[in-house]
This record gives sequence, C-alpha cells and structure tokens, in this order.
Amino acid sequence: KRKIIIDTDPGQDDAVALFLALASPEIEVQAVIAVAGNVPLARTGENARRILEMAGFPHIPVFCGAPRPLQTIQTTAEHVHGPTGLDGIDLSVPPAMPLQTRNGVMYLIEAVRNAEPGELTLVMLGPLTDLALALTLAPDIAERICEVVLMGGAWSELGNITPAAEFNIYADPHAADIVFSAGIPLVVLPLDVTHQCLTLPERLAALRANGNRCSDAAVDMLSFSERFDLAKYGWKGAPLHDPCTIAWLLQPDIFGGRHVNVSIETESSLSLGMTVVDWWKVTDRKPNALFIRDVKADAFFELLTTRLATLP
Ligand code: BDR
Ligand code: CA
Repeated sequence: KRKIIIDTDPGQDDAVALFLALASPEIEVQAVIAVAGNVPLARTGENARRILEMAGFPHIPVFCGAPRPLQTIQTTAEHVHGPTGLDGIDLSVPPAMPLQTRNGVMYLIEAVRNAEPGELTLVMLGPLTDLALALTLAPDIAERICEVVLMGGAWSELGNITPAAEFNIYADPHAADIVFSAGIPLVVLPLDVTHQCLTLPERLAALRANGNRCSDAAVDMLSFSERFDLAKYGWKGAPLHDPCTIAWLLQPDIFGGRHVNVSIETESSLSLGMTVVDWWKVTDRKPNALFIRDVKADAFFELLTTRLATLP
C-alpha cells in the first residue's frame, strides 16, 4: 500500500480526486491538508471534511495549512467553482467531523519526519504553499519524501488563469519555485494531460449509472464546473484536472512523459507562474521532474468509474 498525504483546495475536481483515492485499496490516505486556492481556506477545510464524510472516511484527519500565498496577492477561482468551491451539490448540512487544531504545515513536517525515509508520497492538488513552507522550516524532510505527485503547470496548453500560467502555479509561484528546486522526485500532471481528460456526456452518464451517492455527487459537481468551462473552451466536456494525479499512482502505464527540467517564472508580471519546461533539452539545466504529456483518456475514465462504484 502506498501511504499518501493529500494537500488540496476543494474544488469539484479535487473532490473527485479524493473520492478516487479513498476508493482505491492500493492507496492509504494518511491525512488531508486543506490549502487556500480555488476558494479561501475556511471553505476548503470544510469542503475536504464534507467529501471524506460522504465517502465514509470521517476518521481521516483534516488539517488546515496556509491561508494565503507566500508573496503574491491571493487569487481564487470562484468563477470556475462557484462561491462555495463545491457548487453543484447540497451543502446545507455542515460536516460533523472536526477540523484538527494543529496547523497543516507543522503536521506535514512531523508526518514526514515520523515516517520511514521514502515511505510517504505527497499528492498536491492546489497551490504549493504548504509544502514550500514545510521545506523552508524543515529542509531535512526533502530527502525523506518518496515522491511529490502534483497537478499544475502547462507546456503546450499554456495558461488557464493567465495566458502564460496554470492556476495552481500562478496562485503561488514562489512556493512552486521552492518545490521545483527542492531536489525531491516530482511527477507533474499539467494541463497538457488534463485537457485530454474531458467530462464528455457519455462519460458522465457512465458515472451516473453507478447509482451510488458518491458517483451522483461527482456527476453533480462536475456538471456545475462544466458550465463555465464549456463556454470557455468550446469543448464537449470540461477538463478533469486533479484526479489525474491519483490515476497516475494507480496506473502509471496509461500515462507518458519525460524527465525534464521545469523552472518557475517568479519575476515577469506578464508570465508570472509560467512553468518553463525544457522539453527538448535545449539547456543544461538538470531534469527535476517527470513531466507527463500523454494519457489514455478512456482508460482514465474507466478507472474512475469502476473505482467510484465501490464507494457508498
Ligand atoms: C487546477 O486549478 C484548480 O481550479 C483545479 O482544482 C485544479 O487543481 C487546474 O488548473
Ligand atoms: Ca485543485
């Protein structure tokens, strides 16, 4: 079993990623850390607990990490996810499980130190603030982390929040710079991949046909975030971003990429948060990430649908 900690800003696609992880026996989710991202921290902390409860995992601890990015002005994405971050499902009843009182960054440091070297994998689904803070306060944890699997960045698909940048990296470019410079093995699932994973009507219908509450919630949430995306891209479905990280852990053979250097733009106001990917190896900068660009999208949705069927 692979032990993971998920750092997340739910977010409908974050929620579906949590479902996929919880539904997968190959993975043990040790804790969830909420970070400010799609919506402010109070919301993401509440939303994460809601999703764990819905999936029947209220015993997994949820922590709150950083409330804002390291240096830039906070950017949120209510225009995609709605004011709650999880628009599309009934949110009238607040979650019953408690939020842990310990700060998520302090927890993360302790969790990595308490684990065996190489035992813990970190899955990052939002801005990289929490991990950047942890690495700054406790640089010794870098060599103890097995791998960081993150959704963020773009090469051929470029930006979704500015013309040059993807949201998770743009929302805290200085944090991303720290993470990409830390020497930890990184697996990056960028827009190049997630823009191939479209929530086409027939894929949502297959998920709906599962007939259980979590699959229903997934379809309801994805149908909401689709409203904006369909108009934006003109595609027949919206990109499904964050679950790609969990799918990579489960079935890496349906993805393809290269070990390359990825550097983060932190200075230019025009291209702040851009992932500068040396895909063709035209510099002597050392590879620091497995940058994924290919995915078998049908296999990905098949995996998602069969796994979500096993939840309540
Ligand atoms: C990323 O930004 C967020 O809006 C999504 O949850 C995803 O993590 C996609 O750019
Ligand atoms: Ca996210």
